[in-house]
Amino acid sequence: MLRKMFLAAAAIGVIAATMPFWALSDKPSPAKVTEDLPAGAMQAKATTACLECHEARIILQQRLSKATWAKEVDKMMKWGAVVDGSDRDALIDYLSVNFGPGQAAYEAPRTAAVRNRSEKSAGKPSK
Ligand code: HEC
Repeated sequence: MLRKMFLAAAAIGVIAATMPFWALSDKPSPAKVTEDLPAGAMQAKATTACLECHEARIILQQRLSKATWAKEVDKMMKWGAVVDGSDRDALIDYLSVNFGPGQAAYEAPRTAAVRNRSEKSAGKPSK
């Protein structure tokens, strides 16, 4: 009997230990600050090749022409990004379609509520 109770307690301990800490409280999960690359034919390959050394946001915030994306991808490959030669062009297409100069400006996710929002929007320096 005691042994059974011990096993049950141990099992609960294991479950609790594998749950993320916020699942144990009623508090909402923290703001998601690591973002995903957008859907598309190259999403999976880009995620593997490009998020090995840095977060997606360094890519998401770019607004580059296709020629500049080609240079960027080649630079990252020189720095160690593993991109199959036959995927290079498709990857450059994917990046320039999603992060070209015509795209709306990147909105960075914030970990905390923006304070003084009204101040900020009215925030042109007074002359
Ligand atoms: C071997 C590690 C590594 C891999 C893999 C990698 N990068 Fe980078 N990347 C870096 C480093 C280092 C920087 C510059 C330092 C920083 O700001 O974090 C950087 C910066 C960048 C920048 C910012 C502009 C610049 O040139 O500094 C972009 C855009 C970028 N990477 C895109 C990519 C893309 C697209 C891929 C996939 C093809 C990729 N990276 C894969 C290491 C890597």
